[in-house]
Amino acid sequence: MGSAETHIQSSRPRPNDTSDDLRRFSTLDEMEAVASTRLSEMAHAYFVGGAGDECTLGRNRSAWAEIDVWHKVLVDVSNRSTACTLFGRPCKMPILAAPTALHKLAHADGECATAQGCAAAGVPMVISSLASTSIEAIAAAAPCPLLMQVYLGQDRALGRDLIARAEAAGIVGFQLTVDTPVWGLRHRELASGFHIPPGMDVVNLRGTGGGAAASGVGISQVLGWTISPSVTWKDLEWACGLTSLPVFAKGICRADDAQRAIDAGARGVIVSNHGGRQLDGAPATARALPGVVRAVAGRVPVFVDGGVRRGIDVLRALALGATAVQVGRPVLWGLSCGGAAGVSRCFEILRDELDRAMALAGCPDVASVRGDLLRQD
Ligand SMILES: Cc1cc2nc3c(=O)[nH]c(=O)nc-3n(C[C@H](O)[C@H](O)[C@H](O)COP(=O)(O)O)c2cc1C
Repeated sequence: MGSAETHIQSSRPRPNDTSDDLRRFSTLDEMEAVASTRLSEMAHAYFVGGAGDECTLGRNRSAWAEIDVWHKVLVDVSNRSTACTLFGRPCKMPILAAPTALHKLAHADGECATAQGCAAAGVPMVISSLASTSIEAIAAAAPCPLLMQVYLGQDRALGRDLIARAEAAGIVGFQLTVDTPVWGLRHRELASGFHIPPGMDVVNLRGTGGGAAASGVGISQVLGWTISPSVTWKDLEWACGLTSLPVFAKGICRADDAQRAIDAGARGVIVSNHGGRQLDGAPATARALPGVVRAVAGRVPVFVDGGVRRGIDVLRALALGATAVQVGRPVLWGLSCGGAAGVSRCFEILRDELDRAMALAGCPDVASVRGDLLRQD
């Protein structure tokens, strides 16, 4: 470990990483298996791990699989579409790339490649405030709709600066992450000696001179200054007041918190437990989603992320009332396997699976995926 090069070298696209080769991946799990051989041990531990005993991490995935889909038969599904509109932009499917930090750990082209892959796939990308590439460079790299994720730290000026810069770069909305008063205890990350390699940084938080020097091991030591345990609903309200663009609250699992987020000015909520990386013991997002959907009652969109690995999981989320889903780790696997083309292949796999699941469930379009698929009384 040590140099940035060490982390990137093994994940550079190899001569065999042509689009044809990427097409041989038929599941996201296959991509993950190859990505795990390309990444350094440290990068892999950082990406794959969850908090504590990884109970929530595991349940995120199994909870989707447990939901039966009561498919309809003899529906004409000869003309199908997974298309939808998100943030006023036409998208090829109701899926976004979730915000994940430090894409240069996965590929030398980092977030620019992710944005290009998302543009090719016709999906929006959410830029992490812990991105390893500047917002402006990502926006210049690709025409996909971009959202900006924001952590509010102790320094409000940093948050204000980030929101203003992202607006100027043309993003279409914000996701304010609300589930991180402190970082979850991630043992794999600690055991791997997680640090930010020399030559890499959370560049968007350094612009105004913000931030302590990165030192020590583990995200709490290295990036502790990027979050604050004193953040409350007042800060969400403050952030919503800084922009006319929609701000979504990311990391909600309770109905009452969804209501408070709307009261604070959020124009959307994201049911998320940070991919099982924060409170180990938090409910699987598939279990938390129905209560939040009921509380929100159609007033704002509800997104969900955590453990979505199959097109049928997307269909399940839509049937439970989500407007869209976000995927985190699979995008990093795609990026590791083939840069922009790998990211695009990751979404292509999900889209093909969603399209097939819709056909088999008797749903020609996204609007026809409704709650009646889940209940048979
Ligand atoms: C490596 C990694 C880094 C992440 N970084 C961030 C981040 O910077 N901001 C944030 O709000 N969420 C972050 N997340 C959480 C994701 O946005 C998302 O909630 C989660 O990955 C969804 O679960 P999935 O990976 O099972 O799809 C991160 C997740 C991973 C795996």
